[in-house]
Amino acid sequence: MTETTQPRDESDVPRGLQDDPLNGSPDVEAYFGDRYPQVRHFAELLADQGVLRGLIGPRELERVWERHILNSAAVVPFLGDGVIVDIGSGAGLPGLVVAAMLPERRVVLVEPMERRVQWLLEASREVGIDNVTVLRGRAEEVKESVEADVITARAVASIDKLVKWCAPLLAPEGEMVLLKGRSAGDELERAKYALRKHRLVGEVLEAGTLPGLEPTRVVRLTRA
Ligand SMILES: C[S@@+](CC[C@H](N)C(=O)[O-])C[C@H]1O[C@@H](n2cnc3c(N)ncnc32)[C@H](O)[C@@H]1O
Repeated sequence: MTETTQPRDESDVPRGLQDDPLNGSPDVEAYFGDRYPQVRHFAELLADQGVLRGLIGPRELERVWERHILNSAAVVPFLGDGVIVDIGSGAGLPGLVVAAMLPERRVVLVEPMERRVQWLLEASREVGIDNVTVLRGRAEEVKESVEADVITARAVASIDKLVKWCAPLLAPEGEMVLLKGRSAGDELERAKYALRKHRLVGEVLEAGTLPGLEPTRVVRLTRA
């Protein structure tokens, strides 16, 4: 693997990120272990360019670690084996964080918007994340190009829609792990007809990262 992450001094850290209480935290460093340099490089790139490129809001800059990076990382313990396909990757969340944390896994990032596709290509190259493939398209359009062992998605669409779009992309034993937050249970209930149609069953699981941070929720959908 090509490791392009360089040691950086504090003056390289983008302004907003310097005010993030978790930036430089030993707990965050310990959490990511040997993947920390790459993940940190990605966090810095996102903080540096994310607002300008319309990927994150200006008020999110001081919470990049908790709100975006650790929130994305929370999905990692739920990812089984095989190819991971992240639908609607946008800024690279959770796809690029997952790929940085699991360098031995193949990760496909599916994103329809050209400027976001460009960002994903540039960010993965700059940070040295070389286990990703970026595919331009909508989930409903990429059936011929991908077969997913695990599908992830964050802030893309309701569970109901994601099931309709993504079930055809799943390998026979494939599953979906959707980052959903507080609405998870209600959304899962509203998706029951779509789940039945595609022979999937769902469960809501708590997904934590660091002690003291509010855990998020993932919805895991597996074959019935
Ligand atoms: C609100 S953004 C979230 C991006 C990222 N997952 C995150 O958590 O920051 C939603 C993303 O889903 C993408 N998207 C919308 N409809 C889609 C579809 N049908 N298939 C794949 N991606 C889609 C959008 O282009 C956008 O990048």
